Amino acid sequence: MASAETGVAEWREGHSLPQSFYTSGMTFNADMEMLSTSQWLLVDHESRIAKPGDYFLFEFGAESVIVIRNRSGDVNAFFNVCRHRGSRICLENEGNKRVLTCPYHSWSYDLNGKLRGAHLMPSDFDPTNVALAPAHVRVFEGLIFLNFMKGTPPDFDAFCAPFGALLRGQGLASAKIAARKLYPTAANWKLVVENFFECYHCNSAHPTYCSVHDKMKMLAFGAGAGSGDDQDTILYQEKLKRWEEHSEGLGYPVGMFADNAESVYFRSGNRLPIADDAKTESLDGKPLAPLMTEFGVFDGGQTGCVFNPIGTVLVNNDHAVIFHFIPKSAHQTDVEAIWLVAPHAVEGQDYQPADLMRVWDVTLGEDKTITENNQLGVNSARYQPGRYSTQERRIAEFAKWYMEAVSARPQAL
Ligand code: FES
Ligand SMILES: [Fe+2]
Repeated sequence: MASAETGVAEWREGHSLPQSFYTSGMTFNADMEMLSTSQWLLVDHESRIAKPGDYFLFEFGAESVIVIRNRSGDVNAFFNVCRHRGSRICLENEGNKRVLTCPYHSWSYDLNGKLRGAHLMPSDFDPTNVALAPAHVRVFEGLIFLNFMKGTPPDFDAFCAPFGALLRGQGLASAKIAARKLYPTAANWKLVVENFFECYHCNSAHPTYCSVHDKMKMLAFGAGAGSGDDQDTILYQEKLKRWEEHSEGLGYPVGMFADNAESVYFRSGNRLPIADDAKTESLDGKPLAPLMTEFGVFDGGQTGCVFNPIGTVLVNNDHAVIFHFIPKSAHQTDVEAIWLVAPHAVEGQDYQPADLMRVWDVTLGEDKTITENNQLGVNSARYQPGRYSTQERRIAEFAKWYMEAVSARPQAL
């Protein structure tokens, strides 16, 4: 078994990671630190907290963060830690608060985190200097991002810049949440990521997903930009170009990019057609909800935006799906999907949540099983890192990106 310390030296490019990276608690803790300080974490859509006082908790490692809308309509984020003696303040996962009152000794804070009340404090105690510790929070296209850096966070505008053009006009900012579902997965977060960014397993694991998507596209870009075999990518170019010309004619943006392993981020973005004659990502290609875009017509495209390895959004013409993976321990990851529709869409009339969820609910259920089996095999004393195929190019790049990040840690794990 590889120890965490020897893991970096043991890893060979083009191969999956040495065992300890998928099993070690120490590596897991360092991963959480790396992700929460170097990345902007996608945590939810702001329609979840539409009204002043609406909040939800984002749990990440040892941290719990209160994400709350204040009276001016801004989204604030505070570490869920009382400034008196450190108790958790909000205990419910979501809700609405006029003030944030600690359950321990009733110190209370306003929606901007300022201390409002603390009884029986000594006369030299100055409440005006006391406030909840903020987390860095930003909103882009309705998506809420957090960063836990103690000092200056990464430049958010630069981080978002490549996504702006690809998401133009598709209604993501004004969308509303229609459904959400958690898929707790007994696997390390990196196995979840590796599974999500390759379509080498699609044929054997995902009959439903394969019936929905164009076969040539799945070989070329099954898991987004940079994920497919070179030859298949070339073969698909002509078809893609024809579709792009058609989409641009309708007013839609087109394009594709992917960060490489040398980038601090692991972003990628693309607009791709779902399948011939498909208007959206549904079993029969027919719309599942009213059009979300400003172009007045379907182009059947899907905008994929990967903000980091654990946060992605797929935007179809009539609905979008946020995917985020919340690492819970070295052997456990919460996969959550959040489905969004146009703000005026009426449940039961304009869309049925079960229909909206079907393709990804089936697919994520299948992914949970194969990823858990992957972890069980990786736990074995006989596990050895294996070679990635030409349809796993994006995760070969992810492994490289991750090892770059590990090597940059103060003490390489
Ligand atoms: S720990 Fe919160 S009021 Fe005492
Ligand atoms: Fe999958």
